[in-house]
Amino acid sequence: MQLLSNYLKHHDTDLELVELIDTLMIACKEIALQLREGALAGILGTTNDTNVQGETQKKLDVISNDVLKKVLLDNPLVRGLASEEEDDPVFGNPNGRFLVTFDPLDGSSNIDINVSVGTIFSILEAPEGATDDNVDMFLQAGRKQVASGYVLYGPSAVLALTTGHGVNMFTLAHTGDFLLTRENVKIPEETKEFAINMSNHRFWEPSMRNYVDDLLKGAEGPRGKNYNMRWIASMVAEVHRVLTRGGIFTYPWDSREPAKPGKLRLMYEGNPMSLLIEQAGGISSTCYSDILDIQPDHIHQRVSVALGSREEVETLLQYHCDC
Ligand code: AHG
Ligand code: MN
Ligand code: MN
Repeated sequence: MQLLSNYLKHHDTDLELVELIDTLMIACKEIALQLREGALAGILGTTNDTNVQGETQKKLDVISNDVLKKVLLDNPLVRGLASEEEDDPVFGNPNGRFLVTFDPLDGSSNIDINVSVGTIFSILEAPEGATDDNVDMFLQAGRKQVASGYVLYGPSAVLALTTGHGVNMFTLAHTGDFLLTRENVKIPEETKEFAINMSNHRFWEPSMRNYVDDLLKGAEGPRGKNYNMRWIASMVAEVHRVLTRGGIFTYPWDSREPAKPGKLRLMYEGNPMSLLIEQAGGISSTCYSDILDIQPDHIHQRVSVALGSREEVETLLQYHCDC
């Protein structure tokens, strides 16, 4: 089995990008170790702080954020980083080449119940001549990402990674190495599995309600098949299932916070996951346009997300168009 860095080098990945991905994995291994200790290390539970979205921070949200921040800022390739758990971007080497955005711990409501969580990351090139420490350098459409991925901390720790040439998965071995375990992942085009937080049904747009209601009608309904449902409350775990066996995952706009486009965050969740999904042959959309085409205007902006198996997402999009 091939080591992560050897695999990337053998596939002509830019050597500085390989080094940055290795740096990210140093942090993710540390997070995996801390998670494994759990209650033994006294790191479960919440802090008294909230993040910029107004969400209460778990102790492990803060620990994971600090681990990633420290490890990344020690690498001179890093021009700056932006995190779901940081109000403002943090700048590194003024001559650094890369920008990194991340959700240090996704699905953190699962921490205290010992269910899967993950780290999501996105890598952009710093614009040339960006000598001033300015948040604007991060505001690039998702199509400009040079790499993205996540580490799922489940029964095993698994990295799913794209550098724009397909998606590969690497499993963390007891030696501390990430080893290639799945190459050129392709999402099945059809599915009978959907993931949405059904408790928000009454808050959705009529088009989303109609789509889900038709899924629930099963073999007798317009879709002509019986569907299964999953909801793990961890986007990393949901996307991992979609990449592994297909499906559709959606967290749509809803009327609880009508002025916001959705719950999930474009720069830390929407964009990195969308690149993985597209690179594996799936579709990732707001229900009205491709997420990767959105020109961000705010580092913490939110987005509506619908992603997964090509045929299923295309059907969902039909419910949202006027055609
Ligand atoms: P985070 O833990 O980083 O705040 O993200 C949680 C996200 C996402 O991972 C998950 O799909 C969704 O929030 C779950 O939301 P609900 O609790 O509303 O189901
Ligand atoms: Mn998240
Ligand atoms: Mn998070």
